[in-house]
Amino acid sequence: MDEFSEDIWSGLRSEPKYLQSKYFYDVKGDALFREIMDCPEYYLTRCEMEIFQTQSTTIAKTILSRLTEFDLIELGPGDATKSIYLLEAITTQNASFTYFPIDISENVIDQLNLNLPKRIPGIKVEGLKGDYLEMLGKMNGKSARNKVVLFLGSNIGNIPLDETADFLKALKSCLSPGDLLLTGFDLKKDPAVILAAYNDAAGITRQFNLNLLQRINDTLGSDFNLSHFEHQPEYDESTGACKSYLVSLKEQVVHIGSRGHIHFKAGERIFMEVSQKYSADQMDTFAREAGFSIVSHYFDTRSWFLDALWLAE
Ligand code: AVJ
Repeated sequence: MDEFSEDIWSGLRSEPKYLQSKYFYDVKGDALFREIMDCPEYYLTRCEMEIFQTQSTTIAKTILSRLTEFDLIELGPGDATKSIYLLEAITTQNASFTYFPIDISENVIDQLNLNLPKRIPGIKVEGLKGDYLEMLGKMNGKSARNKVVLFLGSNIGNIPLDETADFLKALKSCLSPGDLLLTGFDLKKDPAVILAAYNDAAGITRQFNLNLLQRINDTLGSDFNLSHFEHQPEYDESTGACKSYLVSLKEQVVHIGSRGHIHFKAGERIFMEVSQKYSADQMDTFAREAGFSIVSHYFDTRSWFLDALWLAE
């Protein structure tokens, strides 16, 4: 059996039940996430966009004061609408770099290979399809140049807080001293603002979560009835964890193709995703503990979002 089937089955058989948020992103899920980014409640993208629109020249200068020749690697680039400002600024300042977007979606990579050279003539793009850290590790065999790694959008927030230190250490072990890492973090703020971002009035985030059940139906031949589940986000101010669940509206049995069946109690929940919120100080500590030093902090005007530039020691 393939990995998707294996992961879905073991998640649903667990107590409590869970699904992995990386599986949100099929073609429909990619489209729904783009719709989420346009929702008035989903402030994250606009905050980080402001940082890149207004501070890319500064960020580029800071990078170029340390490295003039490098591989620019972006983990989970999407359509690169934010990083394109930085790519332009770096190009303008005459650095020599190749852009390596790494994504698990073939579609994302194909689009970037095709479209970026139209936006930035002469840019060298080499999209890589695969797991972030695995591909980052492989880069070491391919190139001896220093790396500048972009990990934007608070994508790191999908990693549970108690696994974040290990993730950053693993990331650091793929880097050499002198390499740079620019990571986007969504910061703690008014809980109502955060919760609304994951509970938009138009119900797009609800659809985004339910779409994974549809994907499981389509690929594994299961019989989830989507109207028997409801989207339920929760924000815990003390931990900064914003978690999404799908709650079973009644007692029911769902057949997962030839795998077997799963029993749901009324009110039982499937844990779908964590979107962790941080403080800037907390991130500084994570950085140092993973072997980085802090170069700069770039905030939006409201200080709702942080892009932090770290140097690998
Ligand atoms: C792409 C992981 C940054 O957690 O905010 C948006 C995904 N989930 N709405 C986030 C998401 C629900 C998003 N990240």
